[in-house]
Amino acid sequence: MFSKKIVSTLIFTMILLFSSVVFASGHGSDQAKKVGILLVAFGSSEASAQVSFDNIDMKVKKAFPNIPVRWSYTSHIIRKKLAKSGKYLDSPEVALAKMADEKFTHVAIQSLHTIRGAEFEDLSNTIAGFKLMGVFQEIQVGQPLLASQEDIEKTVNAILGSIPAEREASEAVVLMGHGTHHPANAFYSALAYQLQLRDANIMVGTVEGYPELDTVQKQLVKNNIKTTYLMPFMSVAGDHAKNDMAGDEDDSWKSILSKAGYECKPVLKGTAEYDSFAKIWVSHLGETLSHFEH
Ligand code: CO
Repeated sequence: MFSKKIVSTLIFTMILLFSSVVFASGHGSDQAKKVGILLVAFGSSEASAQVSFDNIDMKVKKAFPNIPVRWSYTSHIIRKKLAKSGKYLDSPEVALAKMADEKFTHVAIQSLHTIRGAEFEDLSNTIAGFKLMGVFQEIQVGQPLLASQEDIEKTVNAILGSIPAEREASEAVVLMGHGTHHPANAFYSALAYQLQLRDANIMVGTVEGYPELDTVQKQLVKNNIKTTYLMPFMSVAGDHAKNDMAGDEDDSWKSILSKAGYECKPVLKGTAEYDSFAKIWVSHLGETLSHFEH
């Protein structure tokens, strides 16, 4: 946390210096309109996660063919890890500074987060900083996957559509969300409730928030479940999906549930790999871009 603060302070100072150059050189609002997209993900160092990012990248470029697309990862740890293997990803701050340098005037940022949690809040603060400095004429962020009742309904449908076809009604589907201490964690319960109305054998648990696996296990017992699918409810099937959900270690959900007598069928696919989920993020980006059409 400490070093992250220092880094962001440095970056912010850099941006301030940079923006003063922009102002001093007198290129404010008389620039030609140039619209750009910045996609922001938490990031992942797992190669398997790249499938998710590639799918989103493809869908965004297909939906908005004439708008340049840039990427950034919010996780400093992941960026550092990737840099060691020669893959350099920008933070949102650096990506935005570069876009300013490239004379973009309108920037639509799309978060690939699942909820409006701490990561999304940090991103919003960064954007507020850029807004304040007036570097761009317009800078706006689109909602993550779950931000409204309509999003929950679309997500419920996307989940129902992403369950393997061979799953029988008597088999459970346990989704693993990330979870957080942030109040936006309540979205997982809201989603779980609405899923339950459609199919009582679909359950939502989280790694770091509520509902916990304990809660899920009570439901499994209550519904007399013998077999359960395990699916990540995260944009990528990265570290959490591979290890915390489907890993062979004693504390993975697969191990805990297997030990409790359930047959587990893990599905290692992130939500962003499915077109139905990708569509929700892309539509949020479309809403942002529509604000630039004047
Ligand atoms: Co995590």
